[in-house]
Amino acid sequence: MRLKSLELRDFRNYKSVKIDFSDGINILWGKNAQGKTNILEAIYFLATARSFRTIDRKSLISWNGDRFLLGCKIGNGAEKRLRILFSNSERKASLNSKRVNKLSDLIGILRVVIFTPEDIFLLKGNPFKRRRFLDICISQIDREYVGVLQKFKQVLIRRNFAIRKYGNRSSSFLWDNQLAESVAFIMGRRKEVIARIAEKADEYHRDITSGKERLRIEYKPSVKTKEISEKEIFAHYEKNRKKDSEELCTTTGPHRDDIDFFINGKDVKLFGSEGQQRSAVLSLKNAEFALMKKETKETPLILADDVLPVLDRERKRAFLPSLKGNAQIFITCTDKRDIESIGAKANVFRVFNGNVARERV
Ligand SMILES: Nc1ncnc2c1ncn2[C@@H]1O[C@H](COP(=O)(O)OP(=O)(O)O)[C@@H](O)[C@H]1O
Ligand SMILES: [Mg+2]
Repeated sequence: MRLKSLELRDFRNYKSVKIDFSDGINILWGKNAQGKTNILEAIYFLATARSFRTIDRKSLISWNGDRFLLGCKIGNGAEKRLRILFSNSERKASLNSKRVNKLSDLIGILRVVIFTPEDIFLLKGNPFKRRRFLDICISQIDREYVGVLQKFKQVLIRRNFAIRKYGNRSSSFLWDNQLAESVAFIMGRRKEVIARIAEKADEYHRDITSGKERLRIEYKPSVKTKEISEKEIFAHYEKNRKKDSEELCTTTGPHRDDIDFFINGKDVKLFGSEGQQRSAVLSLKNAEFALMKKETKETPLILADDVLPVLDRERKRAFLPSLKGNAQIFITCTDKRDIESIGAKANVFRVFNGNVARERV
């Protein structure tokens, strides 16, 4: 998969910029606060309709503007053009000049895997981050998942509203059939994808640690049933009605799921050193990359934000070849020496105060 060009208007500190990218490695180089990460954020937004830095998408609108516009050309065989317009009141998106209904209809057309120093919070931070990681990963490979997840969220809102209004009466639970249906689908997909990621991640982790460590990743669903089936999940919710109405919300479900990480049997979150956590998360991301590639038969783009300084030599060695294959890579850095450490032939873009210029190397 190739991102040929990117256009930003009134996005963060960019007024109006168009960039033509190359195959292979694209380095975004410049001092701090010039707009390097903003470029990755724009690419990420076109892929996922989200930012990886904030849940407040309005903050992406340039302070001097009232809307932002993103566009890109994707070339893999037939060229595709995506466009997104985003303002406080309007969200419009198009694929090859044809309007689509929702921004989320574009998810999965451009596919990305991101590496950032904040990835470590995937392990250390709250479960919301892990669910978000998982949802974005699955959404990029499975269009149906996007739809079901949205449906689930709507049903959840309605159910919670009804519970607050009617308490433990049957009218609170009119949606439980639909709920069970979407929950079964989401749990099934999550379980399957985590199992596949876990297998790969363990391989990478053994590699990074020269065989000294095993990484185990486990899905920890909040709804506990023997089998993931609509019938059992419905029964679960039925059993929980009293509890849910006492607590005035739906106390179990995909919105409460989590993922556990163990190194050599020990919970990484509680007992892992910083180094182990970094390796684990690197293995996780590499596994995500491998899964997406296998599942879609296309190589996702790799976005790497300031990752080189936090990787020691060992992990750099593990990071770079894992990016191998023929991925197109977008990597930011502030230090020229980092560019040299990549070694490979790369295209360098100088980022300066909301401008991007290609450098001759
Ligand atoms: N909504 C916004 N409108 C205008 N400028 C913004 C907005 N959000 C962030 N910025 C500016 O973007 C710059 C940071 O960009 P960033 O890409 O994070 O920098 P870096 O090059 O360090 O990665 C800062 O100068 C910040 O003030
Ligand atoms: Mg940055």
